[in-house]
Amino acid sequence: MWFDGEIKGTGLGLRTNFIEDVYDHELRPDWFEIAPENWIKRGGYLRKLFENIRENFPVVCHGLSLSIGSPDPVNKSFLKEIKDFLKYYEIPIYSEHLSFSSVNGSYLYDLFPIPFTQEMAEHISQKVSFVQDFLGKEISLENASTYVKLSGDMDETDFIGYIIEKTGCKLLLDVNNVYVNSFNHGFNPYLFIENIKPEWVSYIHVAGHKKIKENLILDTHGSDISEDVYHLLIFTLEKLGEKPVLLERDNNIPPYNELLDEYKYLRKVVENAVQRDY
Ligand SMILES: [Fe+2]
Repeated sequence: MWFDGEIKGTGLGLRTNFIEDVYDHELRPDWFEIAPENWIKRGGYLRKLFENIRENFPVVCHGLSLSIGSPDPVNKSFLKEIKDFLKYYEIPIYSEHLSFSSVNGSYLYDLFPIPFTQEMAEHISQKVSFVQDFLGKEISLENASTYVKLSGDMDETDFIGYIIEKTGCKLLLDVNNVYVNSFNHGFNPYLFIENIKPEWVSYIHVAGHKKIKENLILDTHGSDISEDVYHLLIFTLEKLGEKPVLLERDNNIPPYNELLDEYKYLRKVVENAVQRDY
């Protein structure tokens, strides 16, 4: 009933803005990513459109509300909804953010930074192990974009590596977030990528950002991918080898045919980078 294909090649973040336009064009994304929170309680016509997508494309889930870095325990009733959704639609990947979005059970509707400390790495590892046992599958965690750098005793890549080694989870590597953080916090993004092991990475995100001040970039997901991020993506794929890559566009979404132009360009860049690697 559901499309039984691998997550491979270049995907696109699915938005209701263009869900009806997907079949109007010969060029089709290789796969789609959705936020499960946007679909779990949605019924009616839009649900039918989503199910039609799932019948024809591989889909991955990228969650917003797990709040893995929060001191709160994991919300089990929420996780049960996620589990049922993943199972029903036979979705192979569930990714989340290395950040937190809730405190004392109150949700803050944003993703907040976590300190890269041994204590936090242990805390998150325990929560990740709980989530993976509950879901009966590995999850992926995404390196977040941040605007303040909290003090900590670990490098971000050591922090990520510790959690992966301890729990067997994977990394959703957001190359735009690496670039945004390198600009805002003053480090070399290429050295960050050098420290990522290929076997850690399940898939890659790229998106657009906006420079709003001389020393500040915002991770807006609201414009085309910058040339600097394309260069970093090519370097990343040459180092890691072939990985699925997703175009995220959440704000200022252009008409679908224009978004497809960017998708097409990204797919070519990805194919060229991977071909150079082999
Ligand atoms: Fe991302």
